[in-house]
Amino acid sequence: MRRIRLPLLIDLILADKSADVRSLAADPSLDRGFQTRGPLVNRMIARRIRSGMTIMGIPLPSIVERDDRERQQRQSELEDAFTAMAGKKGWDEESFDRIVAAIRADDSREIALATLSLVGKLFDPAFEGTKHTLYASQTLDRALKNRNPLLSIWWSMTGEVRHAKQKLKKVSSGDFAAIHAIGIAVHNLVASFERMADLLSHQSAASRISPEEAVVRVLVAPETVARQAHKPGPSLAGVLSPGSLVLMNTRAAQEANPSSRTAFLTDAWSICPAHQLVPALLMSVWSAATKPAGTGKEASQ
Ligand code: HEM
Repeated sequence: MRRIRLPLLIDLILADKSADVRSLAADPSLDRGFQTRGPLVNRMIARRIRSGMTIMGIPLPSIVERDDRERQQRQSELEDAFTAMAGKKGWDEESFDRIVAAIRADDSREIALATLSLVGKLFDPAFEGTKHTLYASQTLDRALKNRNPLLSIWWSMTGEVRHAKQKLKKVSSGDFAAIHAIGIAVHNLVASFERMADLLSHQSAASRISPEEAVVRVLVAPETVARQAHKPGPSLAGVLSPGSLVLMNTRAAQEANPSSRTAFLTDAWSICPAHQLVPALLMSVWSAATKPAGTGKEASQ
């Protein structure tokens, strides 16, 4: 890992190796919250993370502090529900079949729409992944990844990102875990299915790749996971001050050394509640997509 530190200006720790990422994510001296504190650049980054991941003053679960009881309870409820669902492949069958067909046809837009439907229906069976909701979700994703200040100004003038967040909140009935799922998490799943479509179209012997190997090859981890020090003191990254920031490139770490432990941060308190569901879904989709045509859709059963 690397530390960039200039007094009053910046104090950042950057990590992109899986062992570092996993230990930093689990380090009890690091948290989230992203209050505007510390040196100038840290305050700017923390403000950007917090405003991007907040809707009408309420933070999305992936920036909420470790000890927040409500977050912990929801994370554990979702983990139980999603793990049970993974065991019985209880996701929406129609969306599943659409994803399989879209992967076979290498149709990116349909992959995105069908994945959005499947993820939304994990929370509410009546959810529909429409083109308007997809646009709102992609707008939030672009805003979170944006580094262009002119574009940020444009968005705040037009209210585009604010409207996108309101749309996502409305279609999720205000459930912030569902907003996280359809506005943020869904993009990692879509990217994984796109890799799957690519693997299928370029690999003449695709059917010989086992579902387990396919998951290793296609699973896409979040680009960045961030942590903030709240108190002064020692950590795995050295001695930190309030506001020191840790930015972990989970995607690069996962790509160099593929493992669900890194992709879903399973050793950390912030473990993704879908850590069993996503690999089970990817395996089933791969099995169905590589089945010779005309042999039915029983792979999802
Ligand atoms: C390829 C797919 C996915 C990957 C690689 C992934 C990975 C992650 C990671 C690394 C975190 C922790 C972030 C942090 O420490 O700040 C996280 C959090 C979370 N993920 Fe996922 N995720 C995926 C899909 C999903 C899906 C499909 C859902 C829901 C249906 C989901 C729901 C959540 C939630 C609610 C949290 C916040 C947990 C909390 O801290 O309370 N994820 N995910």
